[in-house]
Amino acid sequence: MKRLKQILSIALFTCVLVGTANAHVRTEMNQMKGAASALTQASDVMAFEKAAMELRALAVQSSEKKPASIDNDEDFKGYQVGMQEFITVLDEATKQAKSGDLEAAKATSKKLFDIRNEYHKKYK
Ligand code: HEM
Repeated sequence: MKRLKQILSIALFTCVLVGTANAHVRTEMNQMKGAASALTQASDVMAFEKAAMELRALAVQSSEKKPASIDNDEDFKGYQVGMQEFITVLDEATKQAKSGDLEAAKATSKKLFDIRNEYHKKYK
């Protein structure tokens, strides 16, 4: 009986852990919304870089966690490819901003929303 209780409590703990990890992707996605809007509205290079750094950290964190909407390894890999694509475009935009070309950075960052839409259709 004691052993059964132990097994049950470990199982419950695991469920809570997995549930929390999934909830975190949602939390990060909602934070990405704020960072992406700050990026779009940035009126100078510094504001753009700050929002881009935030967005990048959130994308990296999200890519390490399996979203609740994904239930197999193949889709998880596809999701991670999408996140990497997102990060690559974000890095390109950051480079343009750092060189002082805010307009080019903003034009490049429009692609981020296409990537978001494409992968939301697939995995959200
Ligand atoms: C600017 C970029 C993005 C924004 C603002 C954004 C925003 C969101 C929001 C608001 C949600 C709903 C969260 C909720 O249910 O509370 C969501 C869910 C989701 N997004 Fe994104 N997203 C972005 C990029 C991406 C990218 C690049 C991917 C994949 C490569 C992605 C994959 C997903 C998935 C799989 C879900 C479902 C999560 C779940 O049900 O657990 N998103 N996103």
